[in-house]
Amino acid sequence: MKMEEVFKSYEDYVIPSYTKLPLIFVKGKGSYLWDVQGKKYLDFFPGFGAGNLGHCHTKVLSAVRDQIAKLVFVPNTYYNVPQAKLAKELNYWAKNDFKAFFCNSGAEANEAAIKLSRKFGQGRFEMITFENSFHGRTMAALSATGQTKYQQGFSPLVEGFKVVKFNDLNAVKSGITEDTVAVMLELVQGEGGINIANKDFILDLRKLCNEKKLLLIIDEVQTGVGRTGKMFAWQNYGIVPDIFTLAKSLAGGLPIGVMMARKDIADLLTPGTHASTFGGGPVISKAALAVLTAVADEKLLSKANKAGEYLLAELSKLQEKYPLIKDVRGLGLMCGLELDREGRPIVEACIKLGLLINCTHGSVLRIMPALGVSKKEIDKAVTILDKVLKEVK
Ligand SMILES: Cc1ncc(COP(=O)(O)O)c(C=O)c1O
Repeated sequence: MKMEEVFKSYEDYVIPSYTKLPLIFVKGKGSYLWDVQGKKYLDFFPGFGAGNLGHCHTKVLSAVRDQIAKLVFVPNTYYNVPQAKLAKELNYWAKNDFKAFFCNSGAEANEAAIKLSRKFGQGRFEMITFENSFHGRTMAALSATGQTKYQQGFSPLVEGFKVVKFNDLNAVKSGITEDTVAVMLELVQGEGGINIANKDFILDLRKLCNEKKLLLIIDEVQTGVGRTGKMFAWQNYGIVPDIFTLAKSLAGGLPIGVMMARKDIADLLTPGTHASTFGGGPVISKAALAVLTAVADEKLLSKANKAGEYLLAELSKLQEKYPLIKDVRGLGLMCGLELDREGRPIVEACIKLGLLINCTHGSVLRIMPALGVSKKEIDKAVTILDKVLKEVK
């Protein structure tokens, strides 16, 4: 198919629910992507957060090849070995007593968390969520999301979500009623503009949830699997959540979602109460196991921390040079550069020079390279950004 034919086919046959860039990619390796014309790009936002290992990681490829030749799929009414191993391995990384529910996406994992909370609540059903949060596009996850722009046109929303100010314990306290059952949040809001939760706020929130018998749910869909320098972002905060959700990077670019729930509440989802046909299938589970092995073998957590420190320092130097950068912030390798203007033209200019980054929340450049990114690759990306910012009027 010629490029024009691809665009035309999308125009004619694909529902236009995405804002698209005119790029057609055909190959990926590590931090790089190649488009259909053979142009090479440095990808500093791989897979919209699903590329923590970079593109086409060899361990994931061989795990998938190996499993796909043996058994592609069995439903969850039977047992499969990779899922058993993956649940155990995730629990090992969480260093606590969790059980897993497997599904296919972040929104689905959050739906599972919402359903489990309602079971736990025995009539209490309200959840507190936060301004600028993002929890997914399915109806309950969308209703939990604290950004009205995603909800317009989809009323009535699912009832029972109260959105309060982020990082504000008093706001949480005043949102609690006798019907409240849980508090759900991202520790670094991704779609909301790389907003980092304060440590004191999280420690106090954990205490408050204990006092009021509320579940603390951490949405790790974007922050999980090493992105913030720990396997799970909550491990930066010295707390343990009651539930956390994973997706995006866990299976190296293949679709997965997981809800991890404290063992004593997990069993409330008794047989027949929740399900997902493809959740935790053998191929996906094997891919996720390979991802976890790669994170350990390749010391990706400490690499992400070091690379994150270096990247943030280099971005701060740009801030000194260019007053249009209002703030530079990040945790691990989840970095944001807040501008005093729309970020999309800058993203487009970077693309022309072969660098892929993202803009979220209108004016925040989101930069989240693969965890194993090299210093040389960071230097290259920062040089391109520097060139682009120099040209901005
Ligand atoms: C924090 C967070 N939660 C949930 C989701 C939804 O995940 P999915 O698109 O896999 O449904 C996203 C997606 O960007 C996310 O960033």
